[in-house]
Amino acid sequence: MADPATIEAYYLENRTFPPPEWFKQQALVVDTWMYDQADQDYEGFWARQAADLLDWSKDWHTILEWDLPFARWFVGGQLNVSANCLDRHVEAGRGDRIAYHWEGEPGDTRAITYAELRDEVARFANVLKGLGVRKGDRVNIYMPMIPELPVAMLACARIGAPHSVVFGGFSAEALRDRINDAEATVLITADGGWRRGKAVALKANADEAVAGTPTIKHVVVVRRTEGDVTMVEGRDHWYHDLMADPAITVDCPPEPMDAEDLLYLLYTSGTTAKPKGIMHTTGGYLTQVAFTHKYVFDLHPDTDVYWCAADIGWVTGHSYIVYGPLANGATSVMYEGTPDHPDKDRWWALVEKFRVTKLYTAPTAIRTFMKWGTQYLDRHDLSSLKLLGSVGEPINPEAWVWYWEHVGGGRCPVVDTWWQTETGGIMISPLPGCTTLKPGSATFPLPGIGAEVVDDKGNRVKVGGGYLTLTRPWPSMLRGIYGDPERYRQTYWSRYEGRYFAGDGAKLDDEGFFWLLGRVDDVMNVSGHRVSTTEVESALVDHPSVAEAAVVGARDETTGQAIIAFVTLKGGETADPAHGEALRRHVTKKIGPTARPKTVVFTDDLPKTRSGKIMRRLLRDVAEGRDLGDTTTLADATVVDEIRRRAEATPTEE
Ligand code: WTA
Repeated sequence: MADPATIEAYYLENRTFPPPEWFKQQALVVDTWMYDQADQDYEGFWARQAADLLDWSKDWHTILEWDLPFARWFVGGQLNVSANCLDRHVEAGRGDRIAYHWEGEPGDTRAITYAELRDEVARFANVLKGLGVRKGDRVNIYMPMIPELPVAMLACARIGAPHSVVFGGFSAEALRDRINDAEATVLITADGGWRRGKAVALKANADEAVAGTPTIKHVVVVRRTEGDVTMVEGRDHWYHDLMADPAITVDCPPEPMDAEDLLYLLYTSGTTAKPKGIMHTTGGYLTQVAFTHKYVFDLHPDTDVYWCAADIGWVTGHSYIVYGPLANGATSVMYEGTPDHPDKDRWWALVEKFRVTKLYTAPTAIRTFMKWGTQYLDRHDLSSLKLLGSVGEPINPEAWVWYWEHVGGGRCPVVDTWWQTETGGIMISPLPGCTTLKPGSATFPLPGIGAEVVDDKGNRVKVGGGYLTLTRPWPSMLRGIYGDPERYRQTYWSRYEGRYFAGDGAKLDDEGFFWLLGRVDDVMNVSGHRVSTTEVESALVDHPSVAEAAVVGARDETTGQAIIAFVTLKGGETADPAHGEALRRHVTKKIGPTARPKTVVFTDDLPKTRSGKIMRRLLRDVAEGRDLGDTTTLADATVVDEIRRRAEATPTEE
């Protein structure tokens, strides 16, 4: 007999949630017309969205040029992203609308209107010009969640300088490598940011990174935590000093950009140790993020208060804190810190305070709140909420239903949105006014998007499990990997002919609902963050005591996956907990805290195939088969025996 947990999961998976009547009455889309229209002519559909949602200074002559795998959308068209996100709202008389209700972790707040944001962006764009930044030059950004972060991004967009934002949780070395790959000339950072009541020192990391980056000429530093920093004469400048210069005016006409000009680079982990610089361009990207933000969140910009609780350092923040919401003239909440500071009700206090109507977050956060218990929600009035979103990893039905019931009060549709850094915008998701929901399913590809599940050989699977592929180009698709077109082709377009391979497993049920099953490659998903097994392995073997290392992602109740490292030490080294901790610290230093292994297992041997490939799948089984704990684990006889026994029994290629 199945155990109760399985029975409950099965039962939940079969519950369906049609759009609530009250929601339908005010929803933008309540039937399938948009799907029908897009099915007939998907290029024409996207062209209509581009024309409806954005202002173009020059019309395109060709909607799509598709030279597989290279796409060009809205060819010949010109527009500026910052003008679309700011100026046109001000010119239309909406300058007084709040763009961001920002709250710092210590409780300081700032409400920024569209007019104020436009002016600050224009001034900072002039500052960047003064530092010698020209159209096409790359600018690196390494900042906490403060208003100057979107200001910096939009200022880059205004003058046509592609930005490369590096998440503030990344290490100095990770920052250095990303700056060097992009060959950026300017770095924008802050003295620090607040996290759980402590100042995280960003400038110190930036200094260490810049010491190894020959291209950086200027570092702009926002004062946030008032911590001690070293300013290098001639290279480092305080943001506030530069902005206060009387020569810096608000007069900075937006640079007309070609639809296919690079808007930004964002590095993401792949299956090798070297992160990939994902390239996003101007017209198609903004079209799709504006479209998805409007229709997936059923946006009513006059009345909604929208909060995407991600960090701008990841793609979710780029597309759904900055570009999508601003293009649509939305009012957003932006919060600097963690959900448990000063107490575990901080998010709910923010929802109540700003009367948030739409909340977008990740399953790992939802599971954490489940663990903390509903008493933290009960302290606050959450009745303003109308819709809830989920992104970053598969959401288990239990978490979905808990979110729906306890956060949404049983009245708010939950949109589970599947997409990736590479897709730029949401691809598979309900439209909340017309899609019947099933907890744990991202439901269907959005209008204009082609997605199919295929088997190993690339044959389409109509019902059942396989690999998720995308069957046609979409406007916000990555245009390549910076500096490496061959890797782009190889990674995404070589496995199945004519199809984009997403790296995710998926199944289709008999009603055509998509169920995303997680990564099928060597990429782990830890708290919704992508971490490469190879990258962590390289960091470990970089330590002088390590002979060999294998890393796997094991299922974890809260974080989705947890990083488990199997390490063989060089002769004479001691396998003890202190050593394990030293290795975990080393990984944190090389990559950042998101890559820190939860467990380091010391083992004399690693199971290998005959050709010498480490059998990661076997290690994952071992890691998932036992609770290895949150500390260093010495591989005891049973673990080693198990590894050996199974390794011997499975001598074939992985
Ligand atoms: C996973 C984040 C299931 C998936 C936007 C994908 C999801 C990777 C979902 C991309 C979802 C994201 N359901 N899995 N709704 N959303 N994923 O690049 O494995 O940080 O390939 O982009 O997250 O992560 P990335």
